[in-house]
Amino acid sequence: MNDILPNDVATWQFVEKTARDIFTAFGFDEIRVPVVEKTELFCRSIGETTDIVEKEMYTFSDRSDNSLTLRPEGTAPVMRSMIQHKLINTDPVQKLYYSGPMFRYERPQKGRYRQFHQIGAEVVGIDDPLIDAQVMVMLDHFFKEVGIKDVVLEINSLGCPECRPDYRDALIAFLEQRLETLCSDCQRRFRQNPLRALDCKVPGCKEATAGAPIVLDHLCAGCDEHFSQVCTHLQNVDVSFNINPRMVRGLDYYTKTTFEMVTGSLGSQNAVAAGGRYDGLVEKLGGPKVPGIGFAMGVERLVLLLSELNLTNAQPDIFIAALGKDAQQIGFKLLTSLQRRGVRAEMDYNDKGLKSQMKRADKLGVRYSLIIGEDELAKGVAPLRNMSGGDQVNVDIHNFELILAAVTSAKAP
Ligand code: HAM
Repeated sequence: MNDILPNDVATWQFVEKTARDIFTAFGFDEIRVPVVEKTELFCRSIGETTDIVEKEMYTFSDRSDNSLTLRPEGTAPVMRSMIQHKLINTDPVQKLYYSGPMFRYERPQKGRYRQFHQIGAEVVGIDDPLIDAQVMVMLDHFFKEVGIKDVVLEINSLGCPECRPDYRDALIAFLEQRLETLCSDCQRRFRQNPLRALDCKVPGCKEATAGAPIVLDHLCAGCDEHFSQVCTHLQNVDVSFNINPRMVRGLDYYTKTTFEMVTGSLGSQNAVAAGGRYDGLVEKLGGPKVPGIGFAMGVERLVLLLSELNLTNAQPDIFIAALGKDAQQIGFKLLTSLQRRGVRAEMDYNDKGLKSQMKRADKLGVRYSLIIGEDELAKGVAPLRNMSGGDQVNVDIHNFELILAAVTSAKAP
């Protein structure tokens, strides 16, 4: 679990703001759900035999012996909230986004943490392939807007309850013949969750599954048609993608379309965003029979990819160097007025000497300094210095509006 220190926050805010603006333009509203849910919610939605539920959840009993879990993902809590508050009854189409910390007890490495952050989006109530394309268009647009180029959209279809059993049977038959070459996890769950073997990182499993049957060859007519329409819609709006028939997701709720935004720049943690359709999930959680689709982006991974942008926090606009108690009084008044009008203003609160105060102004990288000493106090006029250009104007220290205008007019490019 990481601290996000002030120096890194500029990139975080850039990612968050860009996502918020784009998701809003695409018609999504924000929903905020708790970080803790009943454990059962995740077991039922993500699936009992997934890595997340089997080994990665932070689960604990509260004082009333309820089993609770720190959310490992956002889709199930959002569906729980939608069902609980009957949002579908008020509008049969829900387009929601969320962001915040998620928790998984994974082995930490670059791009993989135990507390990490997701920004996700979900659409419930539409099963047309157009909406599958729409959420991927939004994701693709987000990556273009933040300027991440080294990513590829990979898509696949995992079929539906009609065709998946056929594929599962074919895969189980294939795995059964190679059982002794699979890792113990894949051996143990090859009947219940054979698809996981395709995603296993153990070299022996990778080798053993190289020629495994692929799901796209086993889709029913409906899923096949859905998938080909999704591809056509994406092509229509110039979103490029690769079909990856080996992509399986680590959560069991997916049906039909699944997708990942993958990068070559983050080692083995190559998915920066991932999602898919989950047509049975809402009903499974006790809600109406409505389809859904969505994705979540990993914010830490986005920030890693954006680190070369070297975004920095806003620098102070002005430093007021006040010398002596009387100057400090005036300085503090000016400082407060400027801050109240949205100017990032700083001063030294300790009544240090001019040299030391100017050193601090330099360190902060301020754009302007205003020096108020005894002389300036007596004359009512003080030098406002442009710290980068060096030029200087004298300003009336009692004319706040003038100082504000001088600092803010120069701020415009
Ligand atoms: P997921 O693939 O488990 O899907 O996670 C989505 C993204 O979260 C990943 O692609 C990755 O960028 C990030 N992520 C996951 N685990 C970690 C970790 N331990 N450390 C850092 N980043 C991580 C879901 O969570 C689904 N709820 C997505 C979804 C939404 N599907 C439909 N709607």
